[in-house]
Formats: sequence, structure tokens, C-alpha cells
Amino acid sequence: MTHIITKDEYFTALNDERTSAILERTQRQAMDLKHLQDAWILYHLRDASELRILEVGGGHSRALRFVADANEVWNIDDFGSVGTPRADRQVPKIPGVRMVPEALGSFSPELPDGYFDVVVSISVIEHVPFDVYPKFWADHARVMKAGGLALHAVDFYIGDEPDPVAERRADEMFQAWEDSGLVPEEISLDRPIVFRSSFASNPDYGMWVWNAYAPGLTALRSAAQSVSLGAVLRRG
Ligand SMILES: C[S@@+](CC[C@H](N)C(=O)[O-])C[C@H]1O[C@@H](n2cnc3c(N)ncnc32)[C@H](O)[C@@H]1O
Repeated sequence: MTHIITKDEYFTALNDERTSAILERTQRQAMDLKHLQDAWILYHLRDASELRILEVGGGHSRALRFVADANEVWNIDDFGSVGTPRADRQVPKIPGVRMVPEALGSFSPELPDGYFDVVVSISVIEHVPFDVYPKFWADHARVMKAGGLALHAVDFYIGDEPDPVAERRADEMFQAWEDSGLVPEEISLDRPIVFRSSFASNPDYGMWVWNAYAPGLTALRSAAQSVSLGAVLRRG
């Protein structure tokens, strides 16, 4: 289902031995939203074996590097666009992960057409500008096998009141999927989008830490919850 990741889903992932064993090694011990996003992605991939997996904007591939022993894992990240945690960093060498230092949306010839069984991202889509959507999602569909799966954990800030920014982000994303032939698993997103206590959310401590390196959103973090859309798509 494509919806805001719930506490139920997070707890189910934490109760899963294989998923929690990997989470222990990601060293993000429940500090911020990434922990629940990693859990959601890894739980979906708990039985993955011999699949071709592309991580988009993986940076150091915190979670996905741990499925590289049983699968073929690639990471496309240009390490330069908005949202890069450390813009000056070197392209990392990660055992078992093939790095492509480019942006998805650039139609890199390094990524073959129709090659990947699974495409995933964690905290990336919210950094892709709307005007880049047509290229980004078309390139995404291009590299997937027909029938392939995509899993995206997408950050959202939502609060008590409806927010036109969140509404527009959801609308633009759904439209871009339709335009590029990506079919979401049942979308379950009550509109207007407001926070519900069944949603898994970033601990306040995690948001406070984020204030230090992205201070522009400090006021928003005091008023809203940081949650994640969990998008499950198939290439038609
Ligand atoms: C907030 S970071 C998240 C990094 C990592 N996924 C994580 O969870 O820690 C966003 C990442 O997306 C990358 N990025 C943004 N747009 C991209 C694109 N079009 N193609 C590939 N990577 C992209 C940035 O370079 C950055 O490393």
C-alpha cells in the first residue's frame, strides 16, 4: 500500500529478526526518521535474493549495503544536488555496491534500460524539484524491468492543519507516476493530509538534531511532525 508509514508497519519490521539484525548495523539507533524509513525498506526486502537493486541517492548506502551479499546492488547519486548531506565528500567505495556518480534523470548510459528488479530511495524524492520530475520519473521507469518494484520513503512535514505544500507534493508525485507508467499499489492517503497518531514519526530529538544542519525548517519542526510516505510502485 502507498501511504504514510504507520507505527504498526514500523513495529512489525522491528519485530522481524532479519530486519532488526540489519538495523543494528546501520548505527541509526532510533535517532531520527531514517530509522523507520530504513526499517520499512529493509522489511520489504527481507527475502530479496539474486535481485538487481538500484538505490537512488543512497549516499553511503547505509541500509542497502547490507543486502548486497545476496543481491546485485547499485547506487546512483550525484553527490551534488540539494539534499546532499556533505557536498564535498568523495564518492564512497562500498564493498559489493556499484556506484554511479550521476543523477537519476540524466539518462546515464551506465544504467541499462529495463535492468532492475527493484528501485529504492530513502529521503531523496523530497529533494527532487518539480521541474525535474518529468525526466527523473521517466529515467526511473526506463531502468526498471517490466513488472519491477519500486519502494520510496519520502519525507513529509504534516501537522494539525491542512498544508497546501504537502497537498501539492502528493499531487505532483501521483501525476508524475501516471505520466511515466509507474503504477502505485493502492494509494491510501486521507485528504487533506494531516497528522494522525497512528503514523510513525521522527522523534522530537531527531528533529532537534536536524535543526542544527537545516535551520531553515526550525519553525516548521516546532509545529509539525516529520513522517514518511511509503510508496510502492510497479512498472506497468
Ligand atoms: C538527504 S540525502 C539522503 C541520503 C541517503 N539516502 C540517506 O538516507 O541518508 C539525499 C541524497 O539524494 C541525492 N540525490 C538528490 N537528487 C538525486 C538524483 N536526481 N539522482 C540521484 N541522487 C540524487 C543527493 O545527492 C543526496 O545524497
